[in-house]
Amino acid sequence: MQDYQLIEKLAHQNRERIPERAVHAKGWGAQGKFTVTHDITKYTCAKVFRPGTTTEVLARWSTVAGEMGAADTERDVRGFSLKFYTPDGNWDLVGNNTPIFFVRDAYKFPDFIRTQKRHPKTNMRSPEAMFDFWAAQPESVHQVTILMSDRGIPVNPMHMNGYGSHTFSFWNEAGERFWVKFHFKTQQGHKYYTNKEAEEVIGRTREATQEDLYNAIDTGNFPKWTMFVQIMPEADADKQDFNPFDLTKVWPHGAFPLIEVGELEMNRNPDNYFQMVENAAYSPSNVVPGIGYSPDKMLQARVFSYADAHRYRLGTHYEMLPANAPKAANVNHYHKDGPMRFFTNDFGNPDAYYEPNQYGGPVADPSVKEPPLRIDGDADRYHQDHVDADYVQPRALYTEVMDQAERDRLHSNMAAAMAPCSDAVKERWYAVLGRVHPDYEAGVRAAAKSPKEENALPVDSDTPVEAAE
Ligand code: NDP
Ligand code: HEM
Repeated sequence: MQDYQLIEKLAHQNRERIPERAVHAKGWGAQGKFTVTHDITKYTCAKVFRPGTTTEVLARWSTVAGEMGAADTERDVRGFSLKFYTPDGNWDLVGNNTPIFFVRDAYKFPDFIRTQKRHPKTNMRSPEAMFDFWAAQPESVHQVTILMSDRGIPVNPMHMNGYGSHTFSFWNEAGERFWVKFHFKTQQGHKYYTNKEAEEVIGRTREATQEDLYNAIDTGNFPKWTMFVQIMPEADADKQDFNPFDLTKVWPHGAFPLIEVGELEMNRNPDNYFQMVENAAYSPSNVVPGIGYSPDKMLQARVFSYADAHRYRLGTHYEMLPANAPKAANVNHYHKDGPMRFFTNDFGNPDAYYEPNQYGGPVADPSVKEPPLRIDGDADRYHQDHVDADYVQPRALYTEVMDQAERDRLHSNMAAAMAPCSDAVKERWYAVLGRVHPDYEAGVRAAAKSPKEENALPVDSDTPVEAAE
């Protein structure tokens, strides 16, 4: 027992693992920069958007459902998290590669995630649970359509877009608020795998994304995205024929054109994956002056959920770990002591340990106060029934954005995903598809009856997209 080095070694080994993220456990990270190329200061006073400004960024991409050891190339939504180390503190944009989400009420989120994880008895993933849940939430058909489309299996994050998804807000020097959506368009061009290709990739390697990303950056092929925003003046929210705070809806480009802002470039592999990527704590609550939230119910819930998850997963002072501590701003808060108090924050004056105090401790700065968030209406839990509004945008995606070959692949991907489900669940889901478009329902029914050899993706699927629309 006196060989305490042995005891220390064994004890540390027992503590080398931390809980994985409850969702988005499998991920890949990179460091880089964001440079502002266009002036949007009339909408926001955030320093990160001052023309010419370059800001250090930590990115993490992920799949949603798989555990930490899951294969990379699975059909799933991809997380798209960015931490901007701005002079006003960290701004986190914790988005996805889809502009929308499955549900619009946070109350449904834990149940939705349960359907994506393992069944309590079989310990296997359950398509029956997934489609049973989706069939009862018709607002999910927009996101499920994207998931089952070509975009459901990106070759790697370098070949996909990122979206903030929620409606956030900007405010400018004059205190005027604007609603905003964030878009990051890949400059590498879109590239996706078919189910068959993905199976072959997974048979070869389970770490295809990590390999692609690491090697691209290691050999100097730095991936880039062009950042755009859509802007809506605060007073216009009420004038839309859709709810602009509903996370299952996009803002149509025709009405809200993309405004170019800058360029994101990822150019460095983290020296230590655990320290920079596993320890990274992204949260929608991390905003900076000039950027705010909105009445989106999902966003409001996320503002709580993430820091709570971080305290559980990483510990009390997770925010001071190297990945999370602001790099370009001083931290002035009165959080003290507790586990992981490995840093000094008494500002050189131990008397200033409460607020307010007369000993020169930090005080709130009114110049960064957010303008009031105007809200109205009833606060209630209500059920939004099968209103046609939920089918308008998936219908536009199906009929206007996709061509026939894409629709055929959507039909066969969805039929394959539904194959293990009971007839009762299938019929309920077909009814939802039928409300989007009769051809959608008919196409999936036909694909389910006679599965065809998979159509190949178009040969030009790797053609870079134009930077602006
Ligand atoms: P637009 O024709 O202006 O935009 C269509 C968008 O669809 C493009 O941004 C394109 O992305 C994207 N897209 C293409 N194929 C797919 C796919 N399989 N899955 C998801 N997105 C895809 O039309 P609208 O703005 O009027 O929107 C029409 C429909 O397009 C919406 O109802 C929505 O389903 C979808 N969409 C809209 C977006 C928006 O913010 N307005 C964003 C993404 C999708 P890219 O330019 O990168 O090729
Ligand atoms: C991760 C909760 C909706 C994107 C997480 C984590 C939690 C969580 C607890 C793990 C955090 C951690 O341990 O670090 C929720 C809740 C939601 C919600 C409660 C709804 C109310 C969404 C939506 C998006 C999203 C709508 C995208 C638009 C992500 C991403 C990650 C994540 C990208 C991984 C972050 C990383 O890379 O570390 N979510 N989530 N989530 N979530 Fe959500």
